[in-house]
Amino acid sequence: MADQPRKSARPRGPAKGPAKGPARARFGAGGSGGFTSVDEQLRASLERGRFRRRHAGPSARPARKTGGRKEPATGAFSLTPAEAEVAERLQKVMARAGVASRRHSEELIRAGRVTVNGRVVTELGTKVVPGRDVIEVDGRPLGAPEEKVYVLVNKPKGYVTTLFDPQGRPKVIDLLGDQVAERVYPVGRLDYDTEGLVLLTNDGDLANALMHPAKQVKKTYIAKVRGVPGPGKIKQLQHGVELDDGPTAPAEVRVLEVRAPNSATLLIRIHEGRNRQVRRMCAAVGHEVIHLRRTALGPLQLGDLPVGEWRYLTDAEVKALYHAARLRPGGKPPAAKGARKRR
Ligand code: URA
Repeated sequence: MADQPRKSARPRGPAKGPAKGPARARFGAGGSGGFTSVDEQLRASLERGRFRRRHAGPSARPARKTGGRKEPATGAFSLTPAEAEVAERLQKVMARAGVASRRHSEELIRAGRVTVNGRVVTELGTKVVPGRDVIEVDGRPLGAPEEKVYVLVNKPKGYVTTLFDPQGRPKVIDLLGDQVAERVYPVGRLDYDTEGLVLLTNDGDLANALMHPAKQVKKTYIAKVRGVPGPGKIKQLQHGVELDDGPTAPAEVRVLEVRAPNSATLLIRIHEGRNRQVRRMCAAVGHEVIHLRRTALGPLQLGDLPVGEWRYLTDAEVKALYHAARLRPGGKPPAAKGARKRR
């Protein structure tokens, strides 16, 4: 039912419910293979009650029930020699289980959305033992099957696209409220001051492919610049300009509107994804960007979605993105979950 609104089964947010003690980890397919003999030792060790923490203080106490709340915990877990052999960084285990890329997994950790054995872990160095520690993201154990979800947001100015912001600024993910239960994350970044299309998904393969430089998926921007760039400057932008991190690749650049002498509106289509690239390109030819909006990611169009609103992608849009990213999982993309969101 590609065009039906989707009902959310579970709200986003910190996991709720009783804390869980150490148990055999639940991983995605193939995630815990190869630990059998050490695992035996670990389980024996746990049964003998030798599971303990390295540090004293609040974070060193074993997990306990707190009336349904999860206690924040940040310290590393103490490891026996057998455990040390197999312990891995939490974000690495999460990335391998397909939660998100390692960087996005780090953001989820810092945002307080990850628990280990029922305790919130926000420290990036935390090591966990596959086969022992129960890891949950938003209350969902690693490896629990999750439907693929694709969401298009029209990001307002004044929002960050990261999942965690040390300055506590509004996040694009907040715009979804509690209506999308899956662990979606933004594909690529858009500046705090830039408006427009942001794709959020839990489809790691597609996200990685869309961002991979070799795939050259194009991003389209509408940039209002101060002053009116002449034909020479437009040609420079088209051929590539020198930035402090190297020359830009050829780009499609067209003048959409001229309001001489104050401003002009340009369409700029690039396949690179460097930091503040459009703003820096325009500055390199002497024209400051005064408003910037992303209107397309490959074939995906922002259309008339109002600023601050979101909707699910249609199956056709997901298919087109797979095609643009030259990705063929078993020959075709998964069916998009839900479709257009109706308000
Ligand atoms: N280029 C920019 O300058 N900013 C963005 O957010 C995206 C591309």
